Amino acid sequence: MSQPTTGLGIDIGGSGIKGAPVDLTSGEFTAERLKIPTPELSAPHEVADIVGRIVAHFPEAADGPLGVTFPGIVQNGVVRTAANLDSGWIDTDARALFTEAAGRPVRVLNDADAAAVAEVRFGAARGVSGVVLLTTLGTGIGSALLVDGHLVPNTEFGHLEIHGHDAETRASSAARKRDGLTYEEWAHHRLQHYYRVVEDLLWPDLIVVGGGVSRKSDRFLPLLDIRTPIVPAALLNTAGIVGAALAAADHPPS
Ligand code: BGC
Repeated sequence: MSQPTTGLGIDIGGSGIKGAPVDLTSGEFTAERLKIPTPELSAPHEVADIVGRIVAHFPEAADGPLGVTFPGIVQNGVVRTAANLDSGWIDTDARALFTEAAGRPVRVLNDADAAAVAEVRFGAARGVSGVVLLTTLGTGIGSALLVDGHLVPNTEFGHLEIHGHDAETRASSAARKRDGLTYEEWAHHRLQHYYRVVEDLLWPDLIVVGGGVSRKSDRFLPLLDIRTPIVPAALLNTAGIVGAALAAADHPPS
């Protein structure tokens, strides 16, 4: 049987659930992305309904691998943490739930891990050896660690405790907006310290910054004074969708 060339990726975020068919050889979307707002009550069955609707919207990708990201720890398809979604997710078998909603096998993985899978294949981490840390700055802070291009799954460097605070509650993009900070203030008073702590703990060779705000990286990354090279993600906010589809193709769900 020939390998499928198109997969479907779905990215579950705090504000939207987004999906698109992905050309697995180029990382490009083959159709316009569909975005549905995350319901106020982000309980498992509500989100699963939306996953089912997105799958049904792309019949052209029905035969390919299907991957779904989740903004929390996912071990063997089971959600272990849900800092920014309904706590009813904790210990939910997301793989089983989404497989039922989609009517076909689904690979489920952490959202930042999916972004790293995409960045190492097509983006800023491609061909980089050594230790690469990807962080996503969004509703929370996601992290993914790559060692010579291999993912160490489920790292949670967004939840480092810094000055007595969970880091993402001070340094995420949502925290910047909540606290009314300019990009300059955010860089100087929040990100600078966050990335210093992270680099002192991990000594990565490269830091890649993803999440929607990476589109505006020129307003804050050049202001950071750290020793590690730090670059914006190349795929910007498509990385989660692309990585989900790639991860499902690489490790088909059983
Ligand atoms: C979660 C991570 C997730 C990140 C970005 C954090 O609150 O703990 O697992 O990757 O948010 O969504």
